[in-house]
Amino acid sequence: MTDPKLRVLIPAGKIQARIRELGERISRDYPDGKLHLIGILKGAVFFMTDLARAMTIDVSMDFMGISTYGKGKTTSGEVRVTKDLDASLEGEDVLVVEDIVDSGITLNYLLHVLEQRRPRSIRIAALLDKPERRLRPVQVSYVGFQIPDEFVVGYGLDYSERYRNLDDICVLESEAAG
Ligand code: IMP
Ligand code: MG
Repeated sequence: MTDPKLRVLIPAGKIQARIRELGERISRDYPDGKLHLIGILKGAVFFMTDLARAMTIDVSMDFMGISTYGKGKTTSGEVRVTKDLDASLEGEDVLVVEDIVDSGITLNYLLHVLEQRRPRSIRIAALLDKPERRLRPVQVSYVGFQIPDEFVVGYGLDYSERYRNLDDICVLESEAAG
């Protein structure tokens, strides 16, 4: 396979500026000054560490692994927890941090699972949102950017585990991939 083409959709500078805005807004929205972040492995790691540093409140962090039984560019619809949280959520203000909301299947499922653990509140922050692709409803409180229905990589997002370390978010253009 020849290397697919990458086209920059959101340059690094814009990503960082938007994350600073979100960090300030989230900090204002939690006047108690405390928030428990849950990052969804692995795509959200880059966003989560930058977002946490953009916040002025006291944050704790945990991570969860989710498998959606799908390789390549589509989700199959079956969701499974592959790595559970280390700590209890009881009484915590929780912010789930995700790289992208596509069909909504992953977050719709995850929210049901996490709500049963009796957090005080639970909200979602997603760097990217593809609203056209939604199959299940998900309320996302903090969105970095809405993007069109194109497959993107970089800044944590992968295609078969590649391209996560790009600074920019790029559209992956390739006839072979699909
Ligand atoms: P959903 O369950 O369909 O909302 O899928 C969300 C997950 O699918 C994300 O956490 C990503 O891992 C993956 N995903 C969806 N769209 C893209 C994309 O454009 N690039 C890379 N990964 C994507
Ligand atoms: Mg993911």
